[in-house]
Amino acid sequence: MPRFLVKDAAKHVGEKVKIAGWVNVRRAHGKILFIDLRDISGIMQVVFVPSNKEVYELAETLRPEWVVEITGQIVKRPENMMNDKIETGQVEMSVESLKVLSQSETLPLSIETDGYEIGEEIRMKYRYLDLRRERVKRNLIVRHKVIKFIRDFLDQENFVEIETPMLTKSTPEGARDYIVPSRQDPGKFYALPQSPQQYKQLLMVGGLERYFQIAKCLRDEDPRGDRQPEFTQLDMEMSFVSQEDVMDLTERLLILLVQNLFPNKKIQETPFPRISYKDAMEKYKSDRPDMRSDKNDKDLLAFCWVVDFPFFEKNDEGGWTFTHNPFSASKTEFEADLLGKKNIESILTSQYDIVLNGFEIGGGSIRNHRPEALEKVFEIMGYKKEIIQEKFGHMMEAFKYGAPPHGGIAWGLDRVFTLLLNEPNIREVIAFPKTGDGKDFMMKAPSEVDKKQLEELHISVKKPKAKK
Ligand code: AMO
Repeated sequence: MPRFLVKDAAKHVGEKVKIAGWVNVRRAHGKILFIDLRDISGIMQVVFVPSNKEVYELAETLRPEWVVEITGQIVKRPENMMNDKIETGQVEMSVESLKVLSQSETLPLSIETDGYEIGEEIRMKYRYLDLRRERVKRNLIVRHKVIKFIRDFLDQENFVEIETPMLTKSTPEGARDYIVPSRQDPGKFYALPQSPQQYKQLLMVGGLERYFQIAKCLRDEDPRGDRQPEFTQLDMEMSFVSQEDVMDLTERLLILLVQNLFPNKKIQETPFPRISYKDAMEKYKSDRPDMRSDKNDKDLLAFCWVVDFPFFEKNDEGGWTFTHNPFSASKTEFEADLLGKKNIESILTSQYDIVLNGFEIGGGSIRNHRPEALEKVFEIMGYKKEIIQEKFGHMMEAFKYGAPPHGGIAWGLDRVFTLLLNEPNIREVIAFPKTGDGKDFMMKAPSEVDKKQLEELHISVKKPKAKK
C-alpha cells in the first residue's frame, strides 16, 4: 500500500490508507489513546481503541518523536470534535495496524515553540532537530518556492543558468578570501569565490548573453545578523543592456515574486523610488535608507534604489580604492575623467544598489568592457603594471576579443528571505548556518586536520597563542 502524506490522506474519507511520520504528542481520553502524527505536510489525529488489543498495547509504549507507520481508516470526526486550527481537523484515523520504524530519546531541546527563546548554541548543535520546528521548516519550504519562482521567471526571459567554479582565484569584493592549499602545486592556493563576478563577465565574452546562478559566495568577514561567511546570491549578468534594463528586470521580478508568493505584503511604492548616494547620506545618514512610512507595519515593503555612488574613495594609506567593484564602468559623463585619471574624487560609477526596509539586498553595475578603461581603474588604485597583469591579465586579455557591453546585479538572497519572512536574522532562513562567531557547532567546524593531510600539502601550523 502506498504511503500518503497526512494532508492528502485527509481527503480519503471512508478509505483505508497508510501514513508515516513522527509522534508529535500522545494523549489519553479515558481508555482511548490519541496521537498526533506529524509529517512534512501537517498533523493527523490518530485513534487507538482497546478492542484492537495488540496494536493498543504497542501504542501505549509510543513516545514523542518516535517514527511510526500507521494503517487505518480515515473517518469524519464527530461535529463537536472538529478542529479548524489544523488542515486535517475534520477527520481522524481509526487505526488498524501500527509499526514502530524508529525510537527516539528525549530531545535535548523543545521543538514545539517558535524557538526564539532557545540559546543559539544548542539550536545549532542540534540543527537537524531544530529543523523539525514548524517555523524553520516553513522558512526552508518558502525559500525553495521563491527560488523556483525566480528560476521559472528567468527561464522565460531567456536566461541560462550556469555554474561557475568554487576553486578559483581571488575576486576582490572587499572582504578577505578563504583560501585552499593546492596539493599538486605546493605553496600555491586557490581562493573560494567572494562572488562569481569575473566568471559571469567572461560568460558574456563567451556569448552566453543572459546568465544567472543561485551562487554560493564565501567571504572571510565577521558574521552579523545580516551577514554570513557563506551566503547565497541570485547572480545575473546580461549583454547589450543599460542600467535601466537591469533595474527594470530586477524590479519586475521582485514585484511579481511578492505578489505571487507573499500576497499579504504591501509594496509601499512602485516604480521603486531612486535616490542618489549623496542625498541618501544627507537625508538619511545612510547609504541604505529605510524609507518605510510606518516602521511598525511588518507587512510593508519599502524598496528603493541608491545610485550615483562615487567610484573611488581614499583608503587608509591615503591612496584610492574602489567603493564597490573595480569592474564597474563610470557613468558615461565621467568616461573622459577616468581615461585621463582626472578629478578622481568626483567620478561617479554606474553602480546601483537595491535596498529594502533599510537593508542592502542587492547591488550591481554596468561594466567596463574596454580593456583600456579597466586598466585605468587599476592604475588609479596604484597597482603596478605587473600586478595588474598577474591579477587581472585574463580579464584584460578576454576583453580584447570582442567583448559585448554588459552589466548585471547580484541579490543577497538570504537577506531577501529574512525580510520577506519577517525573521530577525539571516540564520533563520539558512538550513545549516554558521553561528555569530563563524562556527558550525553541529559538525564541529572549523577543526584540526590530520598531520598526514598537512604533510601532503606541505603545510606546518604554528601553534596559535592560547586565547586569554
Ligand atoms: P555585493 O558584494 O554588493 O556585490 O553583494 C551583493 C549582495 O550580496 C549580499 N551580501 C551578503 N549577504 C549575506 N552575507 C554576506 N556576508 C554578504 N555580503 C554581501 C548583499 C549584497 O547587496 N559581484 C557583485 C555583484 C555585481 O556587481 O553584479 C557583488 O557580489 O545583499
